[in-house]
Amino acid sequence: MDRLYVTGGGRLEGSVRVSGAKNSALKLMAAALLAPGRSVIRNVPRIRDCAVMAELLAHFGVAVELRGDTAVLDATEVTGFEAPHDLVGQIRASIVVLGPLLARTGRARVSLPGGDEIGARPVELHVRGLERMGASVRSEHGFLVAEASSLHGASITLDYPSVTATENLLLAGVLARGTTVIDNAAREPEIADLADFLVSMGAQVHGAGSSTIAIDGVDDLRPADHDAVPDRIEAGTWAAAAVATQGDVTIENARPEHLDLFLTKLEDAGAEVIRSSGEGLRVRQHGQPRALDFVTLPYPGIATDFQPILLAMLAVADGTSIATENVFEGRFTYIGELQRMGADISPEGHHAVIRGVPRLSAAPVRAPDIRAGAALVIAALVADGITEVADVYHIDRGYEDFEHKLVSLGAEIRRGGDPVVIPDPAELR
Ligand code: UD1
Repeated sequence: MDRLYVTGGGRLEGSVRVSGAKNSALKLMAAALLAPGRSVIRNVPRIRDCAVMAELLAHFGVAVELRGDTAVLDATEVTGFEAPHDLVGQIRASIVVLGPLLARTGRARVSLPGGDEIGARPVELHVRGLERMGASVRSEHGFLVAEASSLHGASITLDYPSVTATENLLLAGVLARGTTVIDNAAREPEIADLADFLVSMGAQVHGAGSSTIAIDGVDDLRPADHDAVPDRIEAGTWAAAAVATQGDVTIENARPEHLDLFLTKLEDAGAEVIRSSGEGLRVRQHGQPRALDFVTLPYPGIATDFQPILLAMLAVADGTSIATENVFEGRFTYIGELQRMGADISPEGHHAVIRGVPRLSAAPVRAPDIRAGAALVIAALVADGITEVADVYHIDRGYEDFEHKLVSLGAEIRRGGDPVVIPDPAELR
C-alpha cells in the first residue's frame, strides 16, 4: 500500500489547476447509460473512482474508453443489469446506476453500496422515490433489486436533500412517462451539471440547482458531449492548505461562485481571497489563521467534505473553534489521527472543539477516507518533522495528481511503499 511522506514547515506558493469534479464525472458517466450510442465526457479526473465507474459500466455492456481526461462511452448495447459487490464496494457513487439502468432496461440489481466509511449512508430515499415512479424494489442477498416494465412521472418530496437520491430520480425521470417533480431536491452544482448533460441528450429538465426540479419524460435520448464542472472540493482543499501554511496560492479553473460560504469562512480566518469567475481564485494568508466556528449543511451550506479539511486548518489557528457536522454521523472518526499529530481537538457528539496550537508534530497516520486523507496531509504540511500517511489509496480515489499538485506549490512530499523512521522533531529544528 502506498504511503506519502510529507515534510512539514514550508508555505505553499504558486498556481495549481483544478481537475473536473469527481462527484460530477461519476454521475455523467452513469447518465451515458441512458442513450444508445457514443457519449463523450471531458474534464474527467484521472482518479480511481472514475476508473471503477468505467469498469462498472463495462460490466453492463457499455464500451468504455478512458483517454486522459476524456471518457468515451458507447451504450449502444446495455446487456447487463447487475452491479456486483466487488465494484460497488469500492465506490458509494455506484448507487447512481440504479436509476438509469432501470429506465433503460427495466431492471437493476445493485449491491448495497460501500465507499467511504462515513455514517450509516442508507438508500431509502432512492428506493421510495423510484417506487413512486412505479418501480418495485426489494432487498435480496445484499442487493437492491428494482424492476419496472415502465416508469411514470410522480411528485416526490425528499425527506432530506440527498445528492445521489436526487440524481438517481433525475436519471430515472428523464425517460419516465409524464412529469416528475422532485421537491426538497439537493442543490449542489454537480446536479445542475448533470441536468445540463441530460438536456443536451434531449431531456426536458427544469430547475436543477434549485430545490424543485421538474422533469418532463421523453421517449428516448441521444448521446452527447459534455465537460464536467471543475471540482469545488478540490479547489477548497488547496485554498484551506494555503491558509493553514500561511501561503499564497492561485487556484486556476476554480468557480468561486460554488464556494461562496466556504471562502467567506477563509476570510473570517484572515485570508485575503481574490475571486475571479473566469480565472479562478487567489488565496493569501498573512500570519496565523484566526479561529472560527462553522456548521456543515447541504449546498449552499458548507459541504461536509470540507469538514476534515477545515479542522486541519483550524488545528493551527489562533484561538478556539467549534465545528458542527450536520450531514454524516461518524464523520469525526479521523480526529484521533490529528490528535496523534498534536492537535487539540475534542469531539462531542456532532460537535468538535478545536483549540488551535501554533504547530503540529509529525506522526505515522492512516487516511481513513478521501477528505480526511487530504486533511491529514494539510496537517502534515504544518507539522514539525516528516509525517507518514498510510492508506493513500483513499486520497487517490478522489484527487488527481494529489501530491504532484502540492509539490508544484513547494510542498516536500514523496510517495513510497516502505515505512521510514520518523525523526525526532527536535532534531529537525
Ligand atoms: C454525496 C457526495 C459526497 C458528499 C455528500 C454530501 C457523491 C458521489 N458523493 O454523497 O461526497 O459528502 O453527497 O454532500 O456525490 N441519507 C438518508 N437516506 C438516503 C440517502 C441519504 O438518510 O436514502 C442521508 C445520509 O445518511 C446522510 C445525508 O442523507 O446523512 C446526506 O447524504 P447524501 O446527500 O445522500 O450523500 P451522498 O449522495 O451519499
